Amino acid sequence: MSIGIFDSGIGGLTVFREINREFPDADIYYLGDTARVPYGNKSRETVIRYSIEAANYLKTFGIDALIIACNTASSYALEKLREIMDIPVIGVVEPGVETALKYTTNGRVGVIGTVATIKSNSYKKLLEKSGVQVFQKPCPLFVPLVEEGIVDGQIAELIIKEYLDELVDRGIDTLILGCTHYPLLKDSIKKLYPHLKIVDSSQAITDFLHRENLQLSGKGIRKIFITDESESFERFKNMLIGEIPLEKIEISQLCTL
Ligand code: DGL
Repeated sequence: MSIGIFDSGIGGLTVFREINREFPDADIYYLGDTARVPYGNKSRETVIRYSIEAANYLKTFGIDALIIACNTASSYALEKLREIMDIPVIGVVEPGVETALKYTTNGRVGVIGTVATIKSNSYKKLLEKSGVQVFQKPCPLFVPLVEEGIVDGQIAELIIKEYLDELVDRGIDTLILGCTHYPLLKDSIKKLYPHLKIVDSSQAITDFLHRENLQLSGKGIRKIFITDESESFERFKNMLIGEIPLEKIEISQLCTL
């Protein structure tokens, strides 16, 4: 079985990394739309259009399931992609919510993500259905911070505190990292708030795939496509998954339905 994974950029390699580790025999095709990243400050319509293009591109490899690694795209485009694709489409929001519901004991959950993800209320709506109180906060500085490799130390901790103190003061016991990049800040967040249970969507999605019992055996093919190249993408990729090469494709190869 082969899986397609897409993200606005290379942050979704946090999801790729987990799936790569957990399902070594699966064939995995990843598309990072690096020419058009970030999605987190774009409109709903644009995010949906880009997501359809990415899904259609990955479909050309005969994938059996599609994973939307990007929280912003999961928040806006999941419904549309489920409507138009004839294969299972899995976003990161549902698995993240399931894990948070297992973790929380006081029913107070924090959600952080891009401006678009928080504005969509995707996590909030699902969590509130289970009677949980939700406290949200967009953390736009986290993405550039992680891309610069500043994931610990004074500067990282200062910015983390600037965003998260307020949520922690509201008594949350669980925090959903609702953005592809945030798992790289997990250790620093844990250090500052050791009592918090942290939901990392890259782990939540692999747990979900295990539970779904999908037959993820194949030839172990790994392909990572990006729509634009840069040294910083290469550096970030090396930090996350090492050797697997990035292959550049043209935006014009992405087509709409
Ligand atoms: N991949 C995005 C997300 O998880 C973060 C980067 C962006 O804004 O495109 O929401």
